[in-house]
Amino acid sequence: MLVAQYLLGSTVSNQICTSSISKLAMSGSVIKNVAVVGASGSVGRFVVKALLEENFQVTGVTRETSKATLPEGVRHVKTDYSAASLQEAFKGQDAVVGAIGSITPGEALTLQKPLIDAAIAAGVKVFFPSEYGIDTSDHASKDYIPFLVDKIETLDYIKTKQDKISWTAIVSGGMFDWGLDIPGFGGLNIPAGTATIFDGGNIPYEATTLAQVGRAIAKSLKKPELTKNQYVYVNSFTVTQNQVLAAIEKASGKKFKTSESTVEELFSGGAEQWKSGNPMGVLAMIAGAVYGKGGLAQFSTKQGLWNEKLGLPQEDLNEVVKAYLARK
Ligand SMILES: NC(=O)c1ccc[n+]([C@@H]2O[C@H](COP(=O)([O-])OP(=O)(O)OC[C@H]3O[C@@H](n4cnc5c(N)ncnc54)[C@H](OP(=O)(O)O)[C@@H]3O)[C@@H](O)[C@H]2O)c1
Repeated sequence: MLVAQYLLGSTVSNQICTSSISKLAMSGSVIKNVAVVGASGSVGRFVVKALLEENFQVTGVTRETSKATLPEGVRHVKTDYSAASLQEAFKGQDAVVGAIGSITPGEALTLQKPLIDAAIAAGVKVFFPSEYGIDTSDHASKDYIPFLVDKIETLDYIKTKQDKISWTAIVSGGMFDWGLDIPGFGGLNIPAGTATIFDGGNIPYEATTLAQVGRAIAKSLKKPELTKNQYVYVNSFTVTQNQVLAAIEKASGKKFKTSESTVEELFSGGAEQWKSGNPMGVLAMIAGAVYGKGGLAQFSTKQGLWNEKLGLPQEDLNEVVKAYLARK
């Protein structure tokens, strides 16, 4: 905004503008080349799309075994995750965005430490750990969702290295369209036309579309000084279960069959499955946390949103639901 004003203003302003841009460039703050690890995953695909839309040079990093195909305009690099191969993959990159995923602790998300080490060795300026969900700055979050321990340890690790590489952690709450895609997730089963409403369905929670998460990352990379070493809180909207159901019924023209339960039952049912060895139990634990278990639901009031600072577009629940159902 200021830069635009300068560009339109006087010669003096133009000089100020030119000097502030070159200062930014000199301080190494301009991000051009971005590598996305896990570029073909549920989140990674949207990150790549948003980065291309913002004119970054994008490299998609996948495992050697990966069958991923990446969009036109994206350089595809495969890695065996050895230090040497990761370092080679990150050579010439200004930023690395982690988008690897796992619902099991001790698996893919622990690979982020070698990613960080290789990024530092390759001279990368900023690393985005694979977050995009519950606020892990609240360390109690791992008591509710087991794999968050790996995310917390990644952040703890990179904070010890922040004199060598900076980090940005995107907190986006429940992934809205990702959740709608899983029949029964959070009590909502669109194909079956059923919904379980928890604790009356009026608890506000944060929800963010995959596209908005991608944009939040791309916009954060456009403002590296602002987002440096920060938890960046974004959403598409703060909603309640009843509002989401009403939007779906309106857009589909279908009346859903509803039943009632509690967030506690949702969460503890998932936790029991998890303890008895069924990893999918974690999905009910995640939904329980999204709906408020552990006080993890609503960061927009507690932490404040970055949407405006980043220049993220405002999203409308009814429009998003209508577009989502039209795609199905
Ligand atoms: N808040 C929410 O509701 C929500 C929902 C979904 C995801 N998320 C978060 O978003 C992030 C990305 O999740 P996602 O669902 O997009 O993940 P995903 O699709 O399950 O996986 C993304 C990529 O990770 C790589 N990967 C998976 N397992 C791996 C392993 N063992 N070793 C190395 N690479 C592996 C794969 O890349 P290649 O095979 O191409 O190498 C895969 O394409 C995670 O932090 C997740 O917790 C949040």
